[in-house]
Amino acid sequence: MPDREPIGVIGAGWVGLVTAACFAELGHEVHCRDIVPEKVEALRRGDVPIFEPGLADLVERNRERLHFTTDMGEVMSGAELLFCCVDTPPTYSGDADLSRIESVVRELGESHDHAIVMKSTVPVGTGRSIRRRRETGYVANPEFLQEGSAVHDFMHPDRVVVGSWDDSDEFGDRVVALYEALEAPIVRTDVASAEMIKLASNAFLATKISFINEIANVSEELGADVTEVARGMGLDERIGTQFLRAGIGYGGSCFPKDVSALKQLAGNSGYHFQLLTAVIEVNELQKRRTIGKLQKHLGSLVGKEIALLGVAFKPNTDDVREATSLVLAARLQSEGAHVRVYDPKAAGRARELLGSAQVTASALDALTGADAAVLVTEWPEFRELDWAGEVKERMAQPIVVDGRNFLDAELLTAAGFRVEGIGRSSERLSGSQERVARTS
Ligand code: UGA
Repeated sequence: MPDREPIGVIGAGWVGLVTAACFAELGHEVHCRDIVPEKVEALRRGDVPIFEPGLADLVERNRERLHFTTDMGEVMSGAELLFCCVDTPPTYSGDADLSRIESVVRELGESHDHAIVMKSTVPVGTGRSIRRRRETGYVANPEFLQEGSAVHDFMHPDRVVVGSWDDSDEFGDRVVALYEALEAPIVRTDVASAEMIKLASNAFLATKISFINEIANVSEELGADVTEVARGMGLDERIGTQFLRAGIGYGGSCFPKDVSALKQLAGNSGYHFQLLTAVIEVNELQKRRTIGKLQKHLGSLVGKEIALLGVAFKPNTDDVREATSLVLAARLQSEGAHVRVYDPKAAGRARELLGSAQVTASALDALTGADAAVLVTEWPEFRELDWAGEVKERMAQPIVVDGRNFLDAELLTAAGFRVEGIGRSSERLSGSQERVARTS
């Protein structure tokens, strides 16, 4: 076997491409297969079809080691460890759709020389069910990458989880060896536990977000500021500062899907996972509370012009899957509002999902003539806008709902905006306006 083992990657989506490019960067030959010929053609030319910071550079730098193909046979003759990175979207029942994984297993057939290294997020028990068809050659290796920082996360993981049938599994050892260069803690465990680590981690992070969102809602009633509360809580090492940012709900292709998949999985096994039911409900309500905040200032929304700043489910990505913006745009339109949206990267992708909402070329275009603005995604450029000057002049009414507590609320309030944040009572903001007025 060569020094650096060649690897195969099945599925050139977001996880697959990051995995392929990062292993190539670590010196491995990578054979990456996707079933969409146009995508493969584009990748061969060096065009990366998704926006992920650093990814295009990595692909460019490692073009010699990255081989893209539509042919599974080509991948199988080039590598024995095949990272399965196909997507597992939710079905109507909330279960994960495993049909793409099933076809990979079928294509692999009886081969004992190859192992499926499962990176796709799968229900606990998937490995066991595949084992009925493949005795050996299965390793669970869930990914914990965050969109927007995936390349960094791959190279500097908090931990690498490798699940195999037994501790001496040869394929498991080979997967561990691939990650040795990263010097991260390796959690070597059984397949079902590895599968559960992934789902439980995402469910826990989503729970943290829904928890802080409820604290935010109560803080609004009781006059506390959730940002201060989260800061004070987070410094307790047992709690930690991360994932305590209150906002208008979590989105993306992972949390909504994985939380409902775990809840469903528990339900299928006869266990009612009460906590996750609440996490999901809080997240849905959080999105809708924004509408109430607009109505508080505008009354009926019929005919009102509402600007949504940000479409992507979070900054630094063009991913709009399960994005809060889509729910808001639909709700606002059903209330009779006219919606304009702007996003520096993601608006194009979302056009079809935004109904009759108008997609503008700049944030200022969206804000011109708007009765209110809602900050949905915390793209840095939204903070750079001249809120007190040009924006104030251009908006029809100076009303801002800051769904991510991202803007300088004191500055906006001092400039005459009515600002609704998350988890900050308006009383506190008008208090700070008085403070600004007294000191100026
Ligand atoms: C998430 C996990 O963080 C990754 O570890 C995991 O690998 C990935 O899912 C996956 O399963 O593939 P990602 O979906 O890229 O990563 O996004 P996050 O950064 O986790 O954010 C998810 C959502 O939570 C976003 O809508 C974000 O705005 C929201 N969020 C995050 C908050 O509302 N508050 C926070 O404090 C943090």
